[in-house]
Amino acid sequence: MPQDPLIDAALAARSMAYAPYSRFTVGTALRTTDGATYAGCNVENAAYPEGTCAEAGAIAAMVLAGGRRIAELVVAGGGSAPCAPCGGCRQKLREFAGPEMVIHIVDAAGQTLLRTSLAELLPHSFGPDNLAR
Ligand code: THU
Repeated sequence: MPQDPLIDAALAARSMAYAPYSRFTVGTALRTTDGATYAGCNVENAAYPEGTCAEAGAIAAMVLAGGRRIAELVVAGGGSAPCAPCGGCRQKLREFAGPEMVIHIVDAAGQTLLRTSLAELLPHSFGPDNLAR
């Protein structure tokens, strides 16, 4: 069965991850509301806290290309537990997405482990609207 191209993009991004310290590779691919796709992988660093998550890479690629609104995100991690975005990435995603954004978490083979939303992962969130005057 053909797989969702967004899942394929997340798996391809995962294959490029740089994770020599945790050995936990992650790939993400997001689709914007205007239909463009951007992907990212985690990039670790010998100074551990300087590593960046896959979600951050995909967001940076989107912003560089002029994208501003995320409709859907696929996260591909390893293991059998869903690789849910970390707390910091939930907030980073919130900047460019509303509560309805779909977050689809898959395993290394692209099989769905969890389908959720930003509202579920980050309830009562603080976003750009809170700063509107
Ligand atoms: N990581 C991500 O890139 N995205 C997630 O959603 C969770 C965790 C990365 C950070 C670090 O490089 C590795 O996974 C282990 O925490």
